[in-house]
Amino acid sequence: MSGLPVAAATPTLEESAAYITRSGKPTAAEVLARARTSGRPALQPRCGVGGHREMAALLLELEREGAPDLLTLTIDSHTRLRRFESAERALRTDHRTLNGYPLVTHGWQRGRELNELVAVPLEIRHGSPDPRELFATAVASGVTSFEGGGISYNLPYSKDVPLADSLAAWAEVDRTCGELARLGVVMDRELFGTLTAVLVPPSISLAVSVLEAVAAAAAGVRCVSVSYPQGGHLAQDVAALRSIPLLAARYLPPGVEVHAVLHEFMGVFPRDRGHAEELIFYGALTARLGGASKLITKTYQEAFGIPDAAANAAGLRLASVAGSPLLDFVTVDEAAVGEEQEWILRETAEIVEPVLSAPRLDSAVVTAFAAGRLDIPFSASRHARSEVIPRRDPSGAVRYHSPGRLPLSRASAERNRRLLGGPADDASGASLFAALRRDIDHFPLLFGETPEGAPAGPSPATPGKEPAP
Ligand code: 5AD
Repeated sequence: MSGLPVAAATPTLEESAAYITRSGKPTAAEVLARARTSGRPALQPRCGVGGHREMAALLLELEREGAPDLLTLTIDSHTRLRRFESAERALRTDHRTLNGYPLVTHGWQRGRELNELVAVPLEIRHGSPDPRELFATAVASGVTSFEGGGISYNLPYSKDVPLADSLAAWAEVDRTCGELARLGVVMDRELFGTLTAVLVPPSISLAVSVLEAVAAAAAGVRCVSVSYPQGGHLAQDVAALRSIPLLAARYLPPGVEVHAVLHEFMGVFPRDRGHAEELIFYGALTARLGGASKLITKTYQEAFGIPDAAANAAGLRLASVAGSPLLDFVTVDEAAVGEEQEWILRETAEIVEPVLSAPRLDSAVVTAFAAGRLDIPFSASRHARSEVIPRRDPSGAVRYHSPGRLPLSRASAERNRRLLGGPADDASGASLFAALRRDIDHFPLLFGETPEGAPAGPSPATPGKEPAP
């Protein structure tokens, strides 16, 4: 199985829709709807290796040992950047050099083999500013969920891809989802609200997702998953998750299913296995309290890179414990959540409404990012200003140290300032960098780990370092 299959013409959209319908497998959208009704978030790991046989074995092991509700094909970097010849060369020489599954190179027939191997639906997670070939192969493979968006899969990853280009490529994907819906197959489109994964203020994550969701719905998408990265402050995270259905009701047309998804903490993880597992369990409880339809899990190997299958399955089993009915007594400070939610909704409205009121959404997004009226912190891209500076307040919540040029009201900006400690917290230059470093290392420090003493292994995320999807 080391060779590549004979290329076969990609099936038409009608043929792919018919294949998905007759497969009898639930779609991702159906699994998410069921999870929301049950009150127990669906669980999904990230997973992807280069070789086909190895990918098949990985999916089977995760399904058997971790009992996920959805599985993932995490795609390799060559494919994400449309370097298909490089992916092919790697497959022919050593598939272990790939950091994910090169689906386009393996082709849709092998994609169908993977799809038919497991009972649960598959999602593609990648990071491509232009995912059109990958999406076409995914649909032909029977995959029913596809992550990304024209903003969220560009600015965190690419240095110099114009936003207009990524928005246009993703609009094609979304229009194809509309056609599939007319053929009876509802694709789930998960938006990557995680962004740079470093101290993302909730209202920035949600604002980007609202804009991508409005564009997706206008193109015909019927099921949207809004993913939000766990920041680590329970009331703030629960408030952000519970804001998602409210934002959907406010900004999206009726008839679009919207799911809240929590990504377990995406920043610097503790290295000690016990500490990592405490953070994983905390994330799973946060998803439950926030009413998330889905949780993307982490593993105790997070601090060291891509997890092996056993650790990945252990992460799923640990997260599922948080769904136990025995934990019904676990509650959250509802007054604190209510207060956070009111401000999250207000800040998000202040950011998105000027853009939504423009006649053309895509050009308004491009212009707003150029002017800094839309912005994300620590972006890799020259098409975002990254003038926003986040900080953690003394309780651990993520606030705006500086909102840059975001059109936040005076009341919103002042509240952020006050919660960070007022004008006394005027850190700048070296002291601001040191403070940001501490905020980024929040969890290792909380557990008493010294970030500097990290053993050999991949270095932790730093501002500007791109996240994986
Ligand atoms: N398999 C499993 N996890 C992966 N990640 C990135 N690539 C893969 C892969 N091929 C995970 C990282 C991190 C997150 C950003 O994505 O380990 O947890």
